[in-house]
Amino acid sequence: MSETSFTPRVFSGIQPSGGLTLGNYLGAIKRFVSMQDEDFETIYCMVDLHAITAKFLEPEVLRRNTRELAAGFIASGISPEKSILINQSQVPEHAQLAWIFNCVARMGWMGRMTQWKDKAGKNAEAASLGLFAYPALMAADILVYHATHVPVGEDQKQHLELTRDIAAKFNHDYGVDFFPITEPVIEGAATRVMSLRDGSKKMSKSDPSDASRINMTDDADAIARKIRKAKTDPDALPSEAKGLDDRPEARNLVNIYAGLSEQSVDKVLAEVGGQQFGTFKPLLADLAVAKLAPISSEMARLMDDPAEIDRILAKGAEQAREITAPILKKTYEIIGMVG
Ligand code: AMP
Ligand code: TRP
Repeated sequence: MSETSFTPRVFSGIQPSGGLTLGNYLGAIKRFVSMQDEDFETIYCMVDLHAITAKFLEPEVLRRNTRELAAGFIASGISPEKSILINQSQVPEHAQLAWIFNCVARMGWMGRMTQWKDKAGKNAEAASLGLFAYPALMAADILVYHATHVPVGEDQKQHLELTRDIAAKFNHDYGVDFFPITEPVIEGAATRVMSLRDGSKKMSKSDPSDASRINMTDDADAIARKIRKAKTDPDALPSEAKGLDDRPEARNLVNIYAGLSEQSVDKVLAEVGGQQFGTFKPLLADLAVAKLAPISSEMARLMDDPAEIDRILAKGAEQAREITAPILKKTYEIIGMVG
């Protein structure tokens, strides 16, 4: 345990590499919203520097995605009054600390990241250097605020372990107790929302099949159609969670129901156990539409005034730099950089 006490501070980010999905909402954003009202300072970020690591994005597309993501955060309940809302590239200390961490992290650590292996695929030679260094930038995002807690979905667990390793190695190498050892916050019934077409793959904004995901901007018809067509098995729903073992698609739909209705899986199954999917899917579709439609219409309203979104992000960047500039300055001093 660290002896230094750090201000309880939450940081998390989402890539503006495509539109928001139900996976982002249940795995991350819902928790972002609730943590605003706990005893934390909260900072939420569109990580545009991460969004360009994988594939080329047209400048107009990146700009639109970034604003749409900000609109999605706000429409979901993240308040610019309660939280600092930023676009990563507007707070230069993220990239500056990332360079330092590129020199702390080891090639071997990075090479073991499953996300790197999945995204680089068989042709690592053609992947960008940025994709390989991605987790060091993520560690910098978090540690440049001395953030203590990071809410994310299950898929980010390994990156957060690496963040802890980087903080510990820095502290050890320089004989300081400067960076906190961050706690991951991976909670809820739906920390891993799966594809609607394949229960073994995570729901992702980058899946080529639009039918595999629910987008936060989908209208009621699209949501209902995707749920109706979601892959399932022929059996009725069980009345206890262990009946979902080896039924990944059924488990996924029940988890989504539990996440959206804020109930445990056991509670949901006590209610719907015994039902066929023909009965359960319309219930799930109604619930999803009731929860998501107000968010998507609010997103559309906010997107009508991009200048207001830009003003919110500019103000957020200013507030953020009050935290990040002194931490970066101190980091440079610890390292021995003359300034
Ligand atoms: P990304 O869209 O990859 O930038 O992810 C942003 C946040 O959403 C991270 O905290 C992810 O863990 C979370 N997330 C993304 N997809 C899913 C999913 N299918 N299920 C649960 N959480 C997810
Ligand atoms: N890598 C995260 C993802 O794809 C996004 C991210 C970047 C992030 N920096 C972060 C999440 C810092 C939490 C904290 O989901």
